[in-house]
Amino acid sequence: MQNDIKDVLYSEEQIIQKVKELGAQLSTDFEGRNPLVICVLKGAFIFMSDLVKNITVPLEIDFMAVSSYGASTKSSGVVKIIKDLDVPVEGREILIVEDIIDSGLTLSYLIDVLEHRGAKSVTVVALFDKPARRTVDLQPDYRGFTLPDEFVVGYGLDYAEQYRNLPYVGILKPHVYEK
Ligand code: PRP
Ligand code: MN
Ligand code: MG
Repeated sequence: MQNDIKDVLYSEEQIIQKVKELGAQLSTDFEGRNPLVICVLKGAFIFMSDLVKNITVPLEIDFMAVSSYGASTKSSGVVKIIKDLDVPVEGREILIVEDIIDSGLTLSYLIDVLEHRGAKSVTVVALFDKPARRTVDLQPDYRGFTLPDEFVVGYGLDYAEQYRNLPYVGILKPHVYEK
């Protein structure tokens, strides 16, 4: 375990098991719908790649890069599209893949954008949910785990761009972000 991690919250095995369950459920629910599966970069990149391997129906993938945080643990409240989709979403059934929902600002902005562009449906799957931090009324359609209000990293989640490569999700030691 990395020195900066206080506790492992979810092990690699626990996460993989959950991703398999989510994939199986989505495979049933998206049968015949050819969804456009959108990965919200950067945080969702590992979840996305593990998840789509467990979805058995035909689908397309695309990527959007959005950022609401700088090198800080607090949301600035500003959501910015850094990389947009390559394909039109009009008439498409969209599945947004997110690593975590915190304030909900990123997703509420993204859902708005996709609905305005004429998506037929917008569904959200989030591996982690931190409901204690929500500032907008938003629930994922599919959720992996509910997290306590602690600063977690790993499996795509960063602090100041570090720790995304950890295969598990752990709680960061406070000294890392208090210095
Ligand atoms: C993180 C996380 C979610 C978002 C959740 O992304 O990956 O996308 O914040 O927070 P919110 O619900 O308060 O909007 P971040 O903006 O840090 O960019 P990153 O994915 O590149 O790390
Ligand atoms: Mn993100
Ligand atoms: Mg981040």
